[in-house]
Amino acid sequence: MGRPVVRHSSRKIPKREQKPPTTKSDSPGTIPPYHSFTHLEAESLRKDLLAWYDRCKRDLPWRRLASSESDPDRRAYSVWVSEVMLQQTQVSTVIDYYNKWMKTWPTIQDLAKASLEEVNEKWSGLGYYSRGRRLHEGAGKVVLELEGQIPRTAEDLQRLLPGVGRYTAGAIASISYGQVTGVVDGNVIRVLSRLRCIGADFTTPAVSDALWSLANCLVDPLRPGDFNQAMMELGATVCTPKKALCSDCPLQNQCRAYRRVSCVMVT
Ligand code: ADE
Repeated sequence: MGRPVVRHSSRKIPKREQKPPTTKSDSPGTIPPYHSFTHLEAESLRKDLLAWYDRCKRDLPWRRLASSESDPDRRAYSVWVSEVMLQQTQVSTVIDYYNKWMKTWPTIQDLAKASLEEVNEKWSGLGYYSRGRRLHEGAGKVVLELEGQIPRTAEDLQRLLPGVGRYTAGAIASISYGQVTGVVDGNVIRVLSRLRCIGADFTTPAVSDALWSLANCLVDPLRPGDFNQAMMELGATVCTPKKALCSDCPLQNQCRAYRRVSCVMVT
């Protein structure tokens, strides 16, 4: 289920004048057409990817919580915890930790009241303890300085919360609040690079910026959180680093890498 889309203005725009959400930095204008998407290609990709996600998505506890929770702060907290745990840790390992964490501290107020020792103990075995420490610090900040309200946009999440970078901010804002903003993690980098045959070094600022622009232009304006999760899900389960399952891929007919490889195989 998609979340309601965050609108920053209540001004009604006649349908014919509505444009896909782009900003200056999101414009793919500087990306060569071969490495980008036309408007029609983007629409078709969204449709195929979301239909696949609806059919094949894994049933994960944070997805259940995010789709059943009506309170935006509780929803954002549940997504924030999952996204921090999923950094550098596999989904299969995270599930158990996540369930125990949410049982112990179901709200951000509960977490803020916990001691760092209790947090470290719950985190024990997940590794990279600074992630848990920052989450705890962030909970304290939200409760003490932000009147218990988790920031409502990706920009504010990144600016105000410790340990929340561009990826985590985009994930929380799109999944919890329906903000139309893309995300780029390792899975999304691989999916986009294959779809558009981008072989350049993604650790350089120019390539990283181009990938963020593509993600921001591609994200579905009606279901941004589901779209972002679908891109990550595709990278984790189908478009895998080795032995990609191209025959199961909903985007096979839009994939330039697949086309190149299959051309080589028939000649
Ligand atoms: N990896 C990190 N966050 C994820 C999410 N919400 N869905 C799928 N994979 C993820």
